[in-house]
Amino acid sequence: MTDQTDQGYAKPIRILHSILALCMLTQLAIGELMDVPEVEDHPAVAVQWIAPAMAHEAHQHTVPGMPVEETLGFEVHEILGLTIAGLLLIRIMLAMTSLPGANWRLLLPWLFAAGRKQLADEIKTQMAGWKQGKLAAPEDGETVARSVHGFIVLGGIGMAVTGTVLFFGWSTTAPQTDLIELVAETHELLVGALEALLAAHILAVILHQRQGHNIVDRIKPTA
Ligand code: HEM
Repeated sequence: MTDQTDQGYAKPIRILHSILALCMLTQLAIGELMDVPEVEDHPAVAVQWIAPAMAHEAHQHTVPGMPVEETLGFEVHEILGLTIAGLLLIRIMLAMTSLPGANWRLLLPWLFAAGRKQLADEIKTQMAGWKQGKLAAPEDGETVARSVHGFIVLGGIGMAVTGTVLFFGWSTTAPQTDLIELVAETHELLVGALEALLAAHILAVILHQRQGHNIVDRIKPTA
């Protein structure tokens, strides 16, 4: 791989990774558990709370015209979401630098012909091992891993953008507009994709560690 990957990750990337990992995993858990306040379209008085993904449905009655009360879970989700958006903005700025392991070209190798070839070669040569739960050492090629990291960042950005639109556009006093419904559905779809990517990421880390590749040392904030 390139010199940048050989050096592992620069300190700011390592610190950011720990904070982002903690915030994102917490956020996904809160997102699954919280109740989302929403005014229902048809019954005039009844208010339904719909939660994304594993919908937690509860019925609440409220005074017509008064805003639906936001739950603590929903408020924490909003604040943490905006925090993650800020953290991702820092990651995007770091991606413009040549700090070791930071550049966007490393996260999106499939944008380049050479990267796509490397990706295809890696999949061809490593597929047999993956089927047996064996992962190649990073020095034998890590374009696939880099691509997964890139998709995690892209998925996170998608969540942050749709989440920010929802933060400003979500109504607690009236049914949602069609546009806001569409953004909310996209936000939920991205949750599924991000959870699958993170599950693959964490499983890969565990397998690498068990095979003695010590990749955690490359991203540990304290090293
Ligand atoms: C228990 C949770 C996690 C562990 C143990 C873990 C571990 C790691 C390790 C060891 C690497 C370095 C891989 C390499 O050698 O190249 C890495 C990179 C990375 N991880 Fe995680 N990770 C976790 C959770 C997350 C989460 C929740 C995210 C979502 C933001 C994430 C996003 C990334 C990204 C984007 C990279 C590449 C570094 C960068 O470009 O910023 N990880 N992770």
